[in-house]
Amino acid sequence: MIVRELRVRDAADLLGFLQRYFPEEEALLGTRPEGFLEIVRRLFRWDVRLVLALLRLVRRPIFRFFVIEDGGRLVATTLLTFSKAAGYVSMVVVDPAYRRRGLARELLDRARRATRSRGKPFLVLDVLAANAPARALYERIGFRTLRATAYYVQDAPESLLPGPTGIPGIRPFDRRDAPALAAIAGRGRPPEVERVLPSTPRELTGSSWEGALLASELTAWVYDPGSGPQAWVSAAVSRATEAGHLSSPIVGPSVPAEAAASLVRTAAAWCAARRVPRVMTMVPEENTGGRAALEGVGFRSVIPVLTLYRSVA
Ligand SMILES: CC(C)(COP(=O)(O)OP(=O)(O)OC[C@H]1O[C@@H](n2cnc3c(N)ncnc32)[C@H](O)[C@@H]1OP(=O)(O)O)[C@@H](O)C(=O)NCCC(=O)NCCS
Repeated sequence: MIVRELRVRDAADLLGFLQRYFPEEEALLGTRPEGFLEIVRRLFRWDVRLVLALLRLVRRPIFRFFVIEDGGRLVATTLLTFSKAAGYVSMVVVDPAYRRRGLARELLDRARRATRSRGKPFLVLDVLAANAPARALYERIGFRTLRATAYYVQDAPESLLPGPTGIPGIRPFDRRDAPALAAIAGRGRPPEVERVLPSTPRELTGSSWEGALLASELTAWVYDPGSGPQAWVSAAVSRATEAGHLSSPIVGPSVPAEAAASLVRTAAAWCAARRVPRVMTMVPEENTGGRAALEGVGFRSVIPVLTLYRSVA
């Protein structure tokens, strides 16, 4: 068995893994094989590879994708991406025939070391609250709960059409809004969450080349009663998934409930106009304003998730 990084020829195996071993997420997201394979191919175009190699050279990789291969077959995967203070782990999967042999533990250790050498103090991941084997694994290697969160879904988005227009205070997001909104988001978070996953303006603006890579159309709106932005939400559609996505909304404490709901409705209707069968988002428990706004336009909480973290030391 060898540990290495993902290659373009792994794409079909990887897709099979995600569809088979993440049934709950798959039911929400609905992976579109063609779009997914297109993204992986794009990732391996020589110019993208060159950028990634250069970033790695200056020790600023934007992601690492570790896999284990046995006799030419993909048997385990772990994706690592980076936020301001943490490495974020996802797609931890081991082929059933290879479980309980320490493969997941090995890949998580690679992720921990890669995060440490990138100068980030924490390793973070999300796990379905009902996924007992994965929770046992993470607990065993020192992860603790950072916060409870949940997937929310609105599965009749067409009912939101044509969507609100001309609501006073709602306007398109501008990059200059980001610092004020990040500060509002930060104030709403418990101190430990803010330490591990600090709110940053960059999180709101997104990086255009990541967006281009994920083949998604991305847009955002704010609620600004005239004194500056006080609420924000973004919406995205991707060729790799059936579902449309909203960000976890940022809702400042003085935003009227109807304004927050109109903001979320604007974003969900934008997705609906792109003919998605459902719209999903992941919202932490502490974001009470965001949850209320989502519920106000027909989103419901469907899958409880826990965000776990540990130090990389
Ligand atoms: C969760 C998963 C990745 C574990 O992979 P794995 O390679 O079997 O895990 P490891 O062998 O590295 O396990 C390390 C330790 O974690 C714990 N652990 C792992 N699987 C466990 C299980 N099914 N039940 C209880 N404890 C478990 C044990 O303490 C284990 O050590 P031990 O075997 O010496 O007792 C694998 O079961 C899987 O792919 N599941 C489906 C996809 C999934 O749910 N991924 C997690 C998404 S967040």
